[in-house]
Amino acid sequence: MTASPDAATSGRADGRIVVVTGGARGIGRAIVDRFAAEGATVVIGDLTDPGNVGAGLDVAGHREWVPLDVTDEASVLEFAETVQAGHGGVDVLVNNAGIMDTRSIRDETVADWDLAMAVNLRGPFLMAKHLLPLMEGRDDPAIVNIGSIEGLGANALHASYAASKAGVHGLTRALAVDLGPMGVRCNAVAPGWIDTDLNRGYVDKHPNRDQAVAELASLHPVGRIGDPADVAGTVLWLATPDAGFVTGQVVTVDGGRMTRLSLPASLADD
Ligand SMILES: NC(=O)c1ccc[n+]([C@@H]2O[C@H](COP(=O)([O-])OP(=O)(O)OC[C@H]3O[C@@H](n4cnc5c(N)ncnc54)[C@H](O)[C@@H]3O)[C@@H](O)[C@H]2O)c1
Repeated sequence: MTASPDAATSGRADGRIVVVTGGARGIGRAIVDRFAAEGATVVIGDLTDPGNVGAGLDVAGHREWVPLDVTDEASVLEFAETVQAGHGGVDVLVNNAGIMDTRSIRDETVADWDLAMAVNLRGPFLMAKHLLPLMEGRDDPAIVNIGSIEGLGANALHASYAASKAGVHGLTRALAVDLGPMGVRCNAVAPGWIDTDLNRGYVDKHPNRDQAVAELASLHPVGRIGDPADVAGTVLWLATPDAGFVTGQVVTVDGGRMTRLSLPASLADD
């Protein structure tokens, strides 16, 4: 059974102004929709048009898209100005935009490496730096960065991805220390395998997709891979007063995959 945001909505983000980078699809979109359902006004900062959300608030008055390239300081500054003019501040910044490069370090060029770092690590730095003035004086402002279990371990051929996500976890701790005295909390969520376009290619290329999904699910004590809504629920919690004494933490949301120690097939019980 996956998370059910509808059953849990109760206005926990009423009146909050929330920015979600990479909110056009996947995990980011689930975070956008969850905050909007909880009463927040959500600004999606993304390279691409989220589709059913245009510039200006949507019909429900809860979501809008402002074009953003998190790698580009000028774009981030323009985005911050637009949000300030439209909403007068920001309560929650979710740094979710990310890319994943899968290749051997032998083939990875400096340009490949720099792009991964620019999106995954420079992006959260630039967004925190330039949205911080919009968070000053707000009630319990919070930054939530989307890291990864690959900031804790690594899949094969993921040097730049794993390094950038470990960097996101380090940035999270550093910002918690530096911004705590200003009242800004900063935490990260480290998702495990979540079913999105980012990793669907992995299973789609397998000749027997159903078998690949079943084998993946079996790695998880909860018996399934993750849904974007699973991540959204934890991000929401970290941005509410329920987590008011939580900062500098990396919260793993992986169905127990990192907790389960591996055994050779000959010794495994299942
Ligand atoms: N899917 C997973 O299993 C998984 C696991 C752990 C962590 N994550 C992390 O979660 C986050 C979201 O992943 P996802 O699976 O939803 O990915 P996705 O590829 O489905 O969506 C990423 C979004 O980021 C946007 N984006 C990319 N570059 C951008 C840029 N320069 N500026 C602004 N927006 C940009 C894209 O347009 C897209 O809308 C990423 O940081 C990813 O590393 C994902």
